[in-house]
Amino acid sequence: MFDAKIYKQRRDRLKKQVGSGVILFLGNDESPMNYPANPYHFRQDSSFLYFFGLDSAGLAGLVDIDNNKDMIFGNDVDVEDIIWMGFQPLLKDRAVKVGVEETAPLDKLEETLKNSLRNGQKVHFLHPYRVENVVKIEQLLGIKSAGIKDYVSKELVKAVVEQRSVKIDEEIEQIEIALEASYKMHTTAMKMTKPGRYEIEISGAIEGIALSHGAGVSFPVILSIDGQTLHNHYHGNQLKEGRMVVNDSGAESSLHYAADITRTIPVSGKFSPKQAQIYNLVLKAQEEGIQAIKPGIKYRDVHLKAVTVIASGLKELGLMKGDVDEAVKAGAHALFMPHGLGHMMGLDVHDMEDIGEDQVGYDNNTNRSEQFGLAYLRLAKELKPGNVLTVEPGIYFIPALIDKWSKEDKFAEYIDYNKVEEYRDFSGIRIEDDVLVTDDGYRVLGKPIPKTVEDVEAITGTE
Ligand code: GLY
Ligand code: MN
Ligand code: MN
Repeated sequence: MFDAKIYKQRRDRLKKQVGSGVILFLGNDESPMNYPANPYHFRQDSSFLYFFGLDSAGLAGLVDIDNNKDMIFGNDVDVEDIIWMGFQPLLKDRAVKVGVEETAPLDKLEETLKNSLRNGQKVHFLHPYRVENVVKIEQLLGIKSAGIKDYVSKELVKAVVEQRSVKIDEEIEQIEIALEASYKMHTTAMKMTKPGRYEIEISGAIEGIALSHGAGVSFPVILSIDGQTLHNHYHGNQLKEGRMVVNDSGAESSLHYAADITRTIPVSGKFSPKQAQIYNLVLKAQEEGIQAIKPGIKYRDVHLKAVTVIASGLKELGLMKGDVDEAVKAGAHALFMPHGLGHMMGLDVHDMEDIGEDQVGYDNNTNRSEQFGLAYLRLAKELKPGNVLTVEPGIYFIPALIDKWSKEDKFAEYIDYNKVEEYRDFSGIRIEDDVLVTDDGYRVLGKPIPKTVEDVEAITGTE
């Protein structure tokens, strides 16, 4: 964990931001796979980690703003637990490490909260995304699950998003640790890519790398020769000559900071000329997008810049036609890139998405578009120094979408559907890096992972 003073500073700032009442952060519990003693890999709640740092199940944190007091609730293990789990430090000793002096058993939480409510204090909490925590909110605060969203504290949401969106040096260091493991994951995948291999051999190997370096993967590995499916978790295909592998994967550091990288690899070791043309277009969109990043620019404008590069390149290839700016304004390019350019990243790979995508990526000056494609942009608002975000353009040929649009003659003035047919089996290409917004621009985080056609070809299949 970080130094105790970091957690204390965060909680003290939170008190000022929220103003009054008590703030409840519920940590996560173990989540059973098939019976209670056989749980999934434990993942602590990210906001709990951010403000209370302790990485184990069954904890709750309380920030009493009115009485300037922080508490952690949780149970110490008994001798039976020690037999199975080994010695566990006492909660009070662990709490000191995150700057918290007061601890209490979990069954005191309800009483403490009831006292706060009796004293007229508002209890602030974030929207729970796990059923166990929905049930706890019901029990602790008497709020029925269906109505919880109406009681989520707007002040707390705003405060947490404000703090977690701006990363300090220690957090950037963690992201770069995750990126170091991700470098190994991606270069290993490139080396392993050759005809005859199965996707699962590569996805398993890179997940193993993530596990051997920290906390495992930051999201389930997306690795497929069917890269036209944006988040493809099926790894059962055998790699064949002429196909490409989209590998969207990243590691989590031991303090649970994420990395999120995508590379596209030619199975045969060489991109065909047709593949290289599309690849270079995605790369150009990514590089120009990255270069546009600076404080004060809206990420929606960066997205629009990148998709304009894509639309104009697709026009040169004969896939699109007409006025490029008009085509982008209408959303015609979304046939080829039906997703946003990127998202914030930190303790979550889609940072704070549990708190609310609109609360994280949009603000009073930036409304979400309803247009297909642009509507999926997770981050649109003005960027600030300290923001960490992904830049991940792609070009995909999705047969079901092509068929739907061409049947509707949708955007026929901007799309040449006959030409698109020639790419029907092309699959997809995505390239993704993680970028820090600095005081005067940007810094691409982590050691460069092969990205140009030449560099990717040079390493592919070398194992
Ligand atoms: N890894 C999922 C994404 O790129 O958003
Ligand atoms: Mn990704
Ligand atoms: Mn991403």
